[in-house]
Amino acid sequence: MTMLVTVLGTTGKTGRLITAELLARGLPVRGVVRRPEAQDVVRSQGAEPVLADLRSATELLADALTGSDVVINAAAASDPQPGLAEAVDRDGAINAVNAARKAGVPRFLQVSSLFADRPDQGPEFLQRVLRAKQVSDQALVDSGLSWTIVRPGGLTDDPGTGLVRIAERLDITPGIPRTIPRADVAAVTVAALDEPTSRFRAFDLTSGTTSITAALPTTTGS
Ligand SMILES: NC(=O)c1ccc[n+]([C@@H]2O[C@H](COP(=O)([O-])OP(=O)(O)OC[C@H]3O[C@@H](n4cnc5c(N)ncnc54)[C@H](OP(=O)(O)O)[C@@H]3O)[C@@H](O)[C@H]2O)c1
Repeated sequence: MTMLVTVLGTTGKTGRLITAELLARGLPVRGVVRRPEAQDVVRSQGAEPVLADLRSATELLADALTGSDVVINAAAASDPQPGLAEAVDRDGAINAVNAARKAGVPRFLQVSSLFADRPDQGPEFLQRVLRAKQVSDQALVDSGLSWTIVRPGGLTDDPGTGLVRIAERLDITPGIPRTIPRADVAAVTVAALDEPTSRFRAFDLTSGTTSITAALPTTTGS
């Protein structure tokens, strides 16, 4: 089925890979950029650029999402500047959910983070970001949209392996890797688009030993 997917954070390291994966599947993609000069990069990738910011007025952001069948949010504050996680990962992501509802987009996938559902157990230096993501993840759950929340561990730029570990809550024991290549996060997120069992589900994701197609339907396993 052809569907228009709009990617927030399309210029980011994971967002770019998600965009490429969608285009490789032959799906039309709209990439939301906040800097005019980024439009050419998105266009050269084969996607349609549209200018908006997660912190734009909800109406403006809704205009950028109008006509989409799915929104994937891979945007985040990459800068540790005080207040930015609250502005982007919390309030900006909530704004995106509200904009999707306003625009009548039925499905919304959120790239969140391991420990966003249990910030106190996450690394101390990340807890502020995790708390911001916890609030926006909950807003998505409460939104009435068909949602999926992907909570990856530490992201690397290594090539994808296609082998993952997925569960509603992974047992994060010291010694067991909790990282994952961004390429595998992109592959899982795109695979979740049309995997019915991923609807209304949030799951942790790290590298592992199970193929993505086998791991995704068992998001309640461990
Ligand atoms: N880094 C990790 O180890 C880790 C671990 C777990 C989860 N995560 C999460 O995984 C996701 C992807 O991470 P990443 O490192 O691949 O991302 P990234 O490279 O830092 O990209 C972030 C994207 O968000 C966009 N963005 C930032 N502020 C925005 C705003 N106000 N409005 C619209 N777009 C905005 C950036 O746009 P510009 O190009 O204009 O800056 C960029 O496209 C994020 O949600 C991150 O929190 C990361």
